[in-house]
Amino acid sequence: MSATAVIIIAIAAVVVLAGGAFATLARRSDVRGAGALSDETVARDRAARKAAGVSASASADRAAAEAAGKEARTGTALAKVAETAPEPFVPADPDAIGVSRRQFFNRATISLMSAGIGAFAAASFVAFLWPTKTGGFGGKVSIGRYDDVISGIRNSGGFFYAPEARAWITEYPVDAIPKAEGIYAPALMTGMQQGLIASYQKCPHLGCRVPECSSSQWFECGCHGSQYNRVGEKKGGPAPRGMDHFPLEFTAAGEVFVDTGTIVQGVPIGVNTTGQEAEGPHCVGASDH
Ligand code: FES
Repeated sequence: MSATAVIIIAIAAVVVLAGGAFATLARRSDVRGAGALSDETVARDRAARKAAGVSASASADRAAAEAAGKEARTGTALAKVAETAPEPFVPADPDAIGVSRRQFFNRATISLMSAGIGAFAAASFVAFLWPTKTGGFGGKVSIGRYDDVISGIRNSGGFFYAPEARAWITEYPVDAIPKAEGIYAPALMTGMQQGLIASYQKCPHLGCRVPECSSSQWFECGCHGSQYNRVGEKKGGPAPRGMDHFPLEFTAAGEVFVDTGTIVQGVPIGVNTTGQEAEGPHCVGASDH
């Protein structure tokens, strides 16, 4: 799927989510006019106006009663005050009131949560579809042109370090290939036939980064002293096998790639296809614990 298609899908998802959130918030805007009075309210008002005449006569009654009270206080009989019936309770019409504050906050909370979850889902979807980066560790890493890699190895004392591939690139002697056949994985043979081998920097013992030792021309791990020859075959120390490797690929244009997505286990202890012995003092002492 192209990047343009992914972007279009993402935009469509965001628009749909935004529309949903807006519709949720605006759902109650279609009540019969904010501020409009319900039928019940209108009827109650009418009744109140009718009762106004009764109220006037009631006021007259109250005045008469007060006069009678005065008479009573001065020794005459008490006069009975006219009673009026209490107004019945009529609950407020929710349609007329519109959206209460509680409803507003509930809906706002739900809408915001829905929008957040929707945006997260959309972002995850886009991230899932987005083409993964090629060229980083875990994929195929370009280490330059073949001639440059060879000269890089020779100019740096026999060991070419490719940091993005987390690998050492060294020369594999082509005349040792007959011994390697049947021992090394077929995936590595393409590179070995081109005179190159890529060794994973991670020590197969406990995972330390294995550095090169320019004096011995071996790899020598500073953590527990495992030693490997220049092509990663184990020579000493506690490691359970030789250094792990990555397959190499070569393009028609002469570019070299390290396939760091494919880790090939190192060869078993005792394999020594190149016969390379230490060419000088060791950098660390081997230990066989
Ligand atoms: S991690 Fe390298 S020898 Fe132990």
